[in-house]
Amino acid sequence: MERKYIIKGRKPLKGEIEVSGAKNASLPAICATLLAPGLYKLKNVPKVRDVFNMLKIMESLGATYEFKKDYVEINTEKVESVFIPYELASQMRASILFLGALVGGFKSAIVPMPGGCAIGKRPVDFHIKGISQLGGNIQLEKGNLVVSAKKLKGTQIVLDFPSVTATENLMMAACLAEGETIIKNSAKEPEVIFLGEMLKKMGAEIKGLGEDTIYIKGKKKLKPVNIEIIPDRIEAGTYLVLGALMEENEVVVKNIKKEHLKTPILKLEEIGITLEDVGKDALRVKRGRILNPVKIITAPYPGFPTDLQPFFTILLTQAEGISFITENIFENRFLYVYELKRMGAEIEVENRTAIIKGPTPLMGSPVKATDLRAGAALVLAGLMAENTTTVYNVEFIERGYENFVEKLLSLGADIKVEEDES
Ligand code: EPZ
Repeated sequence: MERKYIIKGRKPLKGEIEVSGAKNASLPAICATLLAPGLYKLKNVPKVRDVFNMLKIMESLGATYEFKKDYVEINTEKVESVFIPYELASQMRASILFLGALVGGFKSAIVPMPGGCAIGKRPVDFHIKGISQLGGNIQLEKGNLVVSAKKLKGTQIVLDFPSVTATENLMMAACLAEGETIIKNSAKEPEVIFLGEMLKKMGAEIKGLGEDTIYIKGKKKLKPVNIEIIPDRIEAGTYLVLGALMEENEVVVKNIKKEHLKTPILKLEEIGITLEDVGKDALRVKRGRILNPVKIITAPYPGFPTDLQPFFTILLTQAEGISFITENIFENRFLYVYELKRMGAEIEVENRTAIIKGPTPLMGSPVKATDLRAGAALVLAGLMAENTTTVYNVEFIERGYENFVEKLLSLGADIKVEEDES
Protein backbone atom coordinates (compact mmCIF):
# COMPACT_ATOMS: atom_id res chain seq x y z
CA MET A 1 0.00 0.00 0.00
CA GLU A 2 1.59 3.34 -1.03
CA ARG A 3 0.59 6.45 0.87
CA LYS A 4 0.90 9.95 -0.55
CA TYR A 5 -0.18 13.46 0.44
CA ILE A 6 -2.11 15.69 -1.97
CA ILE A 7 -1.62 19.37 -1.13
CA LYS A 8 -3.31 22.45 -2.58
CA GLY A 9 -0.97 25.34 -1.86
CA ARG A 10 -1.17 29.06 -1.01
CA LYS A 11 -3.93 28.65 1.58
CA PRO A 12 -3.22 30.97 4.55
CA LEU A 13 -2.60 28.97 7.74
CA LYS A 14 -4.14 30.21 10.97
CA GLY A 15 -4.28 28.90 14.50
CA GLU A 16 -2.28 27.05 17.16
CA ILE A 17 -0.12 23.97 16.57
CA GLU A 18 1.19 21.86 19.48
CA VAL A 19 4.62 20.25 19.55
CA SER A 20 4.75 16.58 20.61
CA GLY A 21 7.36 14.76 22.68
CA ALA A 22 10.83 14.37 21.12
CA LYS A 23 11.40 11.28 18.94
CA ASN A 24 15.17 11.51 19.49
CA ALA A 25 14.73 11.61 23.29
CA SER A 26 12.15 8.79 23.34
CA LEU A 27 14.25 6.26 21.40
CA PRO A 28 17.26 6.22 23.80
CA ALA A 29 14.90 6.43 26.82
CA ILE A 30 13.12 3.27 25.66
CA CYS A 31 16.49 1.48 25.36
CA ALA A 32 17.61 2.70 28.81
CA THR A 33 14.77 0.69 30.40
CA LEU A 34 16.96 -2.37 29.69
CA LEU A 35 19.56 -1.16 32.22
CA ALA A 36 17.40 -2.09 35.26
CA PRO A 37 14.62 -4.71 35.05
CA GLY A 38 11.28 -3.29 36.14
CA LEU A 39 8.28 -1.07 35.36
CA TYR A 40 8.74 2.31 33.68
CA LYS A 41 6.26 5.05 32.79
CA LEU A 42 7.42 7.24 29.91
CA LYS A 43 5.15 10.26 29.56
CA ASN A 44 4.71 12.30 26.33
CA VAL A 45 6.22 9.69 23.98
CA PRO A 46 5.17 10.57 20.39
CA LYS A 47 3.14 7.94 18.55
CA VAL A 48 5.37 7.75 15.48
CA ARG A 49 6.64 4.79 13.41
CA ASP A 50 10.19 4.84 14.84
CA VAL A 51 8.80 4.61 18.39
CA PHE A 52 6.47 1.74 17.47
CA ASN A 53 9.38 -0.03 15.81
CA MET A 54 11.60 0.43 18.88
CA LEU A 55 8.85 -0.98 21.12
CA LYS A 56 8.40 -3.97 18.79
CA ILE A 57 12.12 -4.70 19.21
CA MET A 58 11.69 -4.42 23.01
CA GLU A 59 8.86 -6.95 22.78
CA SER A 60 11.09 -9.32 20.77
CA LEU A 61 13.56 -9.19 23.71
CA GLY A 62 10.83 -10.21 26.17
CA ALA A 63 9.64 -6.80 27.42
CA THR A 64 6.00 -5.75 27.42
CA TYR A 65 4.57 -2.30 26.76
CA GLU A 66 1.22 -0.59 26.78
CA PHE A 67 0.14 2.87 25.72
CA LYS A 68 -1.98 4.42 28.46
CA LYS A 69 -3.59 7.87 28.58
CA ASP A 70 -0.55 10.09 28.08
CA TYR A 71 2.27 7.69 28.78
CA VAL A 72 3.65 4.33 27.67
CA GLU A 73 4.26 1.70 30.31
CA ILE A 74 7.26 -0.56 29.67
CA ASN A 75 8.02 -3.66 31.75
CA THR A 76 11.51 -5.15 31.31
CA GLU A 77 11.35 -7.70 34.16
CA LYS A 78 11.10 -10.65 31.75
CA VAL A 79 13.74 -9.55 29.21
CA GLU A 80 15.98 -12.53 28.48
CA SER A 81 17.18 -12.13 24.90
CA VAL A 82 19.98 -9.79 23.73
CA PHE A 83 19.38 -10.58 20.05
CA ILE A 84 17.98 -7.73 17.94
CA PRO A 85 16.09 -9.00 14.85
CA TYR A 86 17.44 -7.62 11.54
CA GLU A 87 13.95 -7.18 10.01
CA LEU A 88 13.07 -4.62 12.70
CA ALA A 89 16.51 -3.08 13.25
CA SER A 90 17.12 -2.49 9.54
CA GLN A 91 14.15 -0.12 9.42
CA MET A 92 15.91 2.51 11.53
CA ARG A 93 19.48 3.42 12.40
CA ALA A 94 18.54 4.32 15.96
CA SER A 95 18.40 0.57 16.69
CA ILE A 96 22.15 0.95 17.29
CA LEU A 97 21.09 2.37 20.70
CA PHE A 98 20.38 -1.18 21.85
CA LEU A 99 24.16 -1.77 21.77
CA GLY A 100 24.98 0.41 24.80
CA ALA A 101 21.81 -0.55 26.69
CA LEU A 102 22.28 -4.33 26.29
CA VAL A 103 26.05 -4.26 26.92
CA GLY A 104 25.40 -2.15 30.04
CA GLY A 105 22.42 -4.20 31.26
CA PHE A 106 23.41 -7.73 30.16
CA LYS A 107 27.15 -7.55 29.35
CA SER A 108 26.30 -8.99 25.91
CA ALA A 109 24.46 -7.96 22.76
CA ILE A 110 23.76 -9.08 19.19
CA VAL A 111 22.84 -5.96 17.23
CA PRO A 112 22.65 -5.68 13.43
CA MET A 113 25.28 -3.32 12.03
CA PRO A 114 23.27 -0.42 10.48
CA GLY A 115 23.22 -0.40 6.66
CA GLY A 116 23.30 2.53 4.24
CA CYS A 117 21.39 5.78 4.74
CA ALA A 118 20.15 8.40 2.24
CA ILE A 119 21.73 11.34 4.08
CA GLY A 120 25.24 9.98 4.50
CA LYS A 121 27.61 7.06 5.14
CA ARG A 122 26.92 7.23 8.89
CA PRO A 123 29.46 4.64 10.14
CA VAL A 124 29.28 3.41 13.77
CA ASP A 125 33.04 3.16 14.39
CA PHE A 126 32.88 5.51 17.42
CA HIS A 127 30.28 3.24 19.07
CA ILE A 128 32.36 0.10 18.40
CA LYS A 129 35.63 1.69 19.55
CA GLY A 130 34.07 3.04 22.77
CA ILE A 131 32.36 -0.21 23.74
CA SER A 132 35.57 -2.15 23.17
CA GLN A 133 37.53 0.40 25.25
CA LEU A 134 35.07 -0.34 28.08
CA GLY A 135 36.01 -4.00 27.82
CA GLY A 136 33.46 -5.30 25.32
CA ASN A 137 34.76 -7.98 22.97
CA ILE A 138 33.10 -7.09 19.62
CA GLN A 139 32.96 -9.35 16.57
CA LEU A 140 31.12 -8.76 13.28
CA GLU A 141 29.23 -11.99 12.46
CA LYS A 142 26.68 -12.30 9.62
CA GLY A 143 26.11 -8.53 9.69
CA ASN A 144 25.63 -8.47 13.47
CA LEU A 145 27.78 -6.77 16.07
CA VAL A 146 28.22 -9.58 18.60
CA VAL A 147 29.43 -8.26 21.93
CA SER A 148 30.39 -10.16 25.08
CA ALA A 149 32.04 -8.77 28.18
CA LYS A 150 33.04 -10.54 31.39
CA LYS A 151 32.90 -7.12 33.00
CA LEU A 152 32.97 -3.49 31.92
CA LYS A 153 35.69 -1.24 33.25
CA GLY A 154 35.52 2.57 33.25
CA THR A 155 38.11 4.37 31.06
CA GLN A 156 38.73 7.58 29.10
CA ILE A 157 37.09 7.71 25.66
CA VAL A 158 37.75 10.52 23.18
CA LEU A 159 35.17 10.88 20.39
CA ASP A 160 36.60 12.07 17.04
CA PHE A 161 33.29 13.92 16.52
CA PRO A 162 30.58 14.72 19.13
CA SER A 163 28.27 11.97 17.89
CA VAL A 164 24.78 12.03 19.49
CA THR A 165 23.98 8.31 19.61
CA ALA A 166 27.60 7.29 20.28
CA THR A 167 27.58 9.53 23.39
CA GLU A 168 24.21 8.06 24.41
CA ASN A 169 25.39 4.46 23.89
CA LEU A 170 28.58 4.95 25.87
CA MET A 171 26.75 6.73 28.70
CA MET A 172 24.34 3.79 29.02
CA ALA A 173 27.12 1.18 29.03
CA ALA A 174 29.37 3.16 31.40
CA CYS A 175 26.62 3.56 34.02
CA LEU A 176 27.08 -0.12 34.99
CA ALA A 177 30.85 -0.37 34.45
CA GLU A 178 33.37 -0.59 37.27
CA GLY A 179 35.01 2.74 38.06
CA GLU A 180 34.86 6.04 36.22
CA THR A 181 34.39 6.64 32.49
CA ILE A 182 35.29 9.99 30.95
CA ILE A 183 33.79 10.79 27.53
CA LYS A 184 35.73 13.62 25.89
CA ASN A 185 34.28 15.65 22.97
CA SER A 186 30.83 14.39 23.97
CA ALA A 187 27.62 15.52 22.26
CA LYS A 188 25.67 18.33 24.03
CA GLU A 189 22.26 17.96 22.37
CA PRO A 190 19.21 18.41 24.67
CA GLU A 191 18.27 14.77 23.93
CA VAL A 192 21.69 13.63 25.25
CA ILE A 193 21.23 15.72 28.40
CA PHE A 194 17.71 14.31 28.78
CA LEU A 195 19.01 10.72 28.67
CA GLY A 196 21.74 11.64 31.20
CA GLU A 197 19.12 13.09 33.56
CA MET A 198 17.02 9.91 33.19
CA LEU A 199 20.06 7.75 34.03
CA LYS A 200 20.83 9.93 37.06
CA LYS A 201 17.22 9.47 38.22
CA MET A 202 17.81 5.70 37.82
CA GLY A 203 20.72 6.05 40.27
CA ALA A 204 23.68 6.70 37.95
CA GLU A 205 26.39 9.20 38.92
CA ILE A 206 26.98 11.55 35.97
CA LYS A 207 28.61 14.99 35.75
CA GLY A 208 29.28 17.31 32.80
CA LEU A 209 26.03 16.83 30.86
CA GLY A 210 25.82 19.52 28.18
CA GLU A 211 29.58 20.11 28.36
CA ASP A 212 32.52 18.86 26.25
CA THR A 213 33.40 16.17 28.79
CA ILE A 214 31.04 13.82 30.63
CA TYR A 215 32.12 11.93 33.78
CA ILE A 216 30.27 8.71 34.71
CA LYS A 217 30.94 6.77 37.91
CA GLY A 218 29.70 3.20 37.36
CA LYS A 219 27.18 1.61 39.72
CA LYS A 220 26.41 -2.05 40.50
CA LYS A 221 22.66 -1.53 40.06
CA LEU A 222 20.18 1.03 38.76
CA LYS A 223 16.43 1.30 39.37
CA PRO A 224 13.35 1.82 37.13
CA VAL A 225 11.87 5.34 36.95
CA ASN A 226 9.00 7.40 35.57
CA ILE A 227 9.96 10.27 33.29
CA GLU A 228 8.44 12.87 30.97
CA ILE A 229 9.91 13.26 27.47
CA ILE A 230 11.02 16.79 26.46
CA PRO A 231 9.26 18.57 23.56
CA ASP A 232 10.61 17.85 20.08
CA ARG A 233 12.83 20.84 19.12
CA ILE A 234 13.07 19.71 15.48
CA GLU A 235 9.28 19.43 15.18
CA ALA A 236 9.06 22.87 16.85
CA GLY A 237 11.54 24.31 14.33
CA THR A 238 9.51 22.76 11.51
CA TYR A 239 6.37 24.60 12.67
CA LEU A 240 8.17 27.92 13.21
CA VAL A 241 9.27 27.79 9.56
CA LEU A 242 5.74 26.73 8.56
CA GLY A 243 4.37 29.90 10.19
CA ALA A 244 6.95 32.01 8.32
CA LEU A 245 6.24 30.57 4.86
CA MET A 246 3.57 33.09 3.85
CA GLU A 247 2.84 36.67 4.93
CA GLU A 248 -0.85 35.80 5.46
CA ASN A 249 -0.10 32.99 7.94
CA GLU A 250 -0.97 33.53 11.62
CA VAL A 251 0.51 30.58 13.46
CA VAL A 252 1.21 30.06 17.18
CA VAL A 253 3.52 27.17 18.06
CA LYS A 254 2.80 25.72 21.51
CA ASN A 255 4.82 23.49 23.90
CA ILE A 256 8.09 24.81 22.51
CA LYS A 257 11.28 24.92 24.63
CA LYS A 258 12.86 28.13 23.30
CA GLU A 259 16.18 27.48 25.06
CA HIS A 260 16.62 24.35 22.88
CA LEU A 261 16.25 26.43 19.69
CA LYS A 262 18.47 29.44 20.30
CA THR A 263 20.44 29.22 17.04
CA PRO A 264 17.49 28.50 14.68
CA ILE A 265 15.50 31.31 16.35
CA LEU A 266 18.39 33.76 15.84
CA LYS A 267 18.56 32.72 12.17
CA LEU A 268 14.80 33.24 11.74
CA GLU A 269 15.14 36.74 13.22
CA GLU A 270 18.06 37.46 10.85
CA ILE A 271 15.79 36.41 7.95
CA GLY A 272 13.24 38.95 9.18
CA ILE A 273 10.81 36.74 11.12
CA THR A 274 9.40 38.00 14.42
CA LEU A 275 8.73 35.44 17.15
CA GLU A 276 6.46 36.86 19.81
CA ASP A 277 6.12 35.24 23.23
CA VAL A 278 2.50 34.31 23.87
CA GLY A 279 2.26 32.71 27.29
CA LYS A 280 4.52 29.96 28.60
CA ASP A 281 6.31 27.88 25.96
CA ALA A 282 4.40 29.40 23.01
CA LEU A 283 5.57 31.61 20.12
CA ARG A 284 3.53 33.55 17.55
CA VAL A 285 5.28 33.67 14.16
CA LYS A 286 5.08 36.94 12.26
CA ARG A 287 6.73 38.07 9.05
CA GLY A 288 6.77 41.06 6.74
CA ARG A 289 6.68 41.06 2.95
CA ILE A 290 10.47 40.97 2.56
CA LEU A 291 12.72 38.13 3.74
CA ASN A 292 16.49 38.62 4.02
CA PRO A 293 18.99 36.14 2.51
CA VAL A 294 21.35 34.59 5.08
CA LYS A 295 24.27 32.19 5.48
CA ILE A 296 23.74 29.01 7.52
CA ILE A 297 26.35 26.40 8.51
CA THR A 298 25.12 23.24 10.25
CA ALA A 299 27.06 22.14 13.35
CA PRO A 300 26.71 20.01 16.48
CA TYR A 301 24.54 21.54 19.23
CA PRO A 302 24.36 24.41 20.14
CA GLY A 303 25.22 25.11 16.50
CA PHE A 304 22.56 25.11 13.72
CA PRO A 305 20.86 21.67 13.66
CA THR A 306 21.33 19.66 10.46
CA ASP A 307 17.76 18.32 10.93
CA LEU A 308 16.32 21.82 10.31
CA GLN A 309 18.46 22.51 7.24
CA PRO A 310 15.84 21.40 4.62
CA PHE A 311 13.14 23.66 6.15
CA PHE A 312 15.32 26.77 6.04
CA THR A 313 16.21 25.99 2.40
CA ILE A 314 12.49 26.06 1.56
CA LEU A 315 12.00 29.36 3.40
CA LEU A 316 15.06 30.96 1.78
CA THR A 317 13.68 30.32 -1.72
CA GLN A 318 11.48 33.31 -0.81
CA ALA A 319 14.27 35.62 0.41
CA GLU A 320 15.34 38.66 -1.61
CA GLY A 321 18.80 37.60 -2.84
CA ILE A 322 21.31 34.76 -2.52
CA SER A 323 21.48 32.53 0.58
CA PHE A 324 24.07 29.88 1.38
CA ILE A 325 23.51 26.74 3.46
CA THR A 326 26.57 24.58 4.23
CA GLU A 327 25.93 21.07 5.55
CA ASN A 328 28.82 19.96 7.78
CA ILE A 329 27.27 16.96 9.54
CA PHE A 330 26.06 14.62 6.78
CA GLU A 331 27.73 14.44 3.38
CA ASN A 332 24.59 13.73 1.32
CA ARG A 333 21.78 15.82 2.81
CA PHE A 334 20.75 17.87 -0.23
CA LEU A 335 18.99 15.13 -2.21
CA TYR A 336 15.63 16.93 -1.70
CA VAL A 337 17.00 19.97 -3.58
CA TYR A 338 16.46 18.11 -6.87
CA GLU A 339 12.80 17.60 -5.94
CA LEU A 340 12.52 21.30 -5.05
CA LYS A 341 13.99 22.27 -8.41
CA ARG A 342 11.10 20.34 -9.99
CA MET A 343 8.89 22.90 -8.22
CA GLY A 344 10.84 25.74 -9.83
CA ALA A 345 13.30 26.55 -7.03
CA GLU A 346 16.60 28.12 -8.12
CA ILE A 347 19.21 26.23 -6.10
CA GLU A 348 22.69 24.99 -7.01
CA VAL A 349 24.59 22.57 -4.79
CA GLU A 350 28.38 22.97 -4.85
CA ASN A 351 30.32 20.57 -2.62
CA ARG A 352 28.51 20.80 0.71
CA THR A 353 26.83 24.16 0.09
CA ALA A 354 23.40 24.92 -1.35
CA ILE A 355 23.26 28.31 -3.10
CA ILE A 356 19.64 29.49 -3.00
CA LYS A 357 18.41 32.32 -5.24
CA GLY A 358 15.19 34.09 -4.27
CA PRO A 359 12.48 35.12 -4.27
CA THR A 360 11.23 32.33 -6.54
CA PRO A 361 7.55 31.34 -6.65
CA LEU A 362 7.14 27.56 -6.34
CA MET A 363 4.77 25.58 -8.54
CA GLY A 364 2.93 22.44 -7.47
CA SER A 365 4.46 19.17 -8.73
CA PRO A 366 4.73 15.46 -7.83
CA VAL A 367 7.79 15.02 -5.54
CA LYS A 368 9.41 12.17 -3.61
CA ALA A 369 10.46 12.16 0.06
CA THR A 370 13.99 10.76 0.43
CA ASP A 371 14.17 10.85 4.23
CA LEU A 372 12.22 12.08 7.27
CA ARG A 373 13.16 15.78 7.33
CA ALA A 374 13.34 16.16 3.54
CA GLY A 375 9.82 14.68 3.29
CA ALA A 376 8.33 17.07 5.83
CA ALA A 377 10.11 19.99 4.14
CA LEU A 378 8.60 19.07 0.74
CA VAL A 379 5.14 19.17 2.37
CA LEU A 380 5.90 22.72 3.54
CA ALA A 381 7.03 23.59 0.00
CA GLY A 382 3.72 22.21 -1.30
CA LEU A 383 1.77 24.37 1.19
CA MET A 384 3.55 27.45 -0.17
CA ALA A 385 3.41 26.52 -3.90
CA GLU A 386 0.82 27.42 -6.53
CA ASN A 387 -1.62 24.62 -7.46
CA THR A 388 -1.28 20.98 -6.41
CA THR A 389 1.74 19.08 -5.02
CA THR A 390 1.76 15.32 -4.49
CA VAL A 391 4.32 14.03 -1.99
CA TYR A 392 5.25 10.33 -2.33
CA ASN A 393 7.02 8.04 0.22
CA VAL A 394 5.30 9.80 3.12
CA GLU A 395 6.15 6.81 5.32
CA PHE A 396 9.42 8.63 5.91
CA ILE A 397 7.53 11.58 7.42
CA GLU A 398 5.36 9.39 9.62
CA ARG A 399 8.51 7.94 11.17
CA GLY A 400 9.07 11.14 13.10
CA TYR A 401 6.06 13.51 13.00
CA GLU A 402 3.06 12.70 15.21
CA ASN A 403 -0.34 13.47 13.59
CA PHE A 404 1.39 15.62 10.97
CA VAL A 405 -1.57 15.84 8.58
CA GLU A 406 -4.10 16.37 11.39
CA LYS A 407 -2.04 19.21 12.84
CA LEU A 408 -1.75 20.90 9.42
CA LEU A 409 -5.48 20.47 8.80
CA SER A 410 -6.17 22.17 12.15
CA LEU A 411 -4.43 25.27 10.73
CA GLY A 412 -6.65 25.21 7.63
CA ALA A 413 -4.19 23.52 5.26
CA ASP A 414 -5.65 21.82 2.17
CA ILE A 415 -3.94 18.44 2.47
CA LYS A 416 -5.26 14.91 2.17
CA VAL A 417 -3.85 11.40 2.38
CA GLU A 418 -4.34 8.94 -0.47
CA GLU A 419 -3.46 5.25 -0.42
CA ASP A 420 -2.79 3.36 -3.62
CA GLU A 421 -3.08 -0.43 -3.81
CA SER A 422 0.41 -1.17 -5.15
C1 EPZ B 1 21.43 11.76 15.66
O1 EPZ B 1 21.92 10.81 14.71
C2 EPZ B 1 19.95 11.96 15.31
N1 EPZ B 1 19.25 10.69 15.43
C3 EPZ B 1 19.82 12.49 13.89
O2 EPZ B 1 18.44 12.79 13.63
C4 EPZ B 1 20.59 13.79 13.78
O3 EPZ B 1 20.59 14.22 12.44
C5 EPZ B 1 22.06 13.58 14.22
O4 EPZ B 1 22.11 13.01 15.53
C6 EPZ B 1 22.84 14.87 14.23
O5 EPZ B 1 22.25 15.80 15.04
C7 EPZ B 1 18.87 10.27 16.67
O6 EPZ B 1 19.10 10.89 17.70
C8 EPZ B 1 18.14 8.97 16.74
P1 EPZ B 1 25.81 11.52 14.83
P2 EPZ B 1 23.36 10.11 14.91
O7 EPZ B 1 26.40 10.25 15.27
O8 EPZ B 1 23.64 9.96 16.36
C9 EPZ B 1 29.64 10.73 12.09
C10 EPZ B 1 16.38 12.74 12.48
O9 EPZ B 1 16.04 13.30 11.43
N2 EPZ B 1 29.86 9.48 12.86
O10 EPZ B 1 25.78 12.65 15.80
O11 EPZ B 1 23.39 8.93 14.04
C11 EPZ B 1 28.36 10.66 11.24
O12 EPZ B 1 28.59 10.00 10.03
C12 EPZ B 1 17.78 12.09 12.57
O13 EPZ B 1 15.67 12.67 13.49
C13 EPZ B 1 30.96 8.70 12.55
O14 EPZ B 1 31.74 9.02 11.66
O15 EPZ B 1 24.31 11.24 14.30
C14 EPZ B 1 28.03 12.13 11.06
O16 EPZ B 1 28.77 12.65 10.01
C15 EPZ B 1 18.49 12.09 11.27
N3 EPZ B 1 31.14 7.56 13.26
C16 EPZ B 1 28.47 12.72 12.39
O17 EPZ B 1 29.36 11.79 13.00
C17 EPZ B 1 30.28 7.17 14.28
O18 EPZ B 1 30.48 6.12 14.90
C18 EPZ B 1 27.33 13.02 13.37
O19 EPZ B 1 26.51 11.94 13.45
C19 EPZ B 1 29.17 7.99 14.57
C20 EPZ B 1 28.98 9.15 13.85
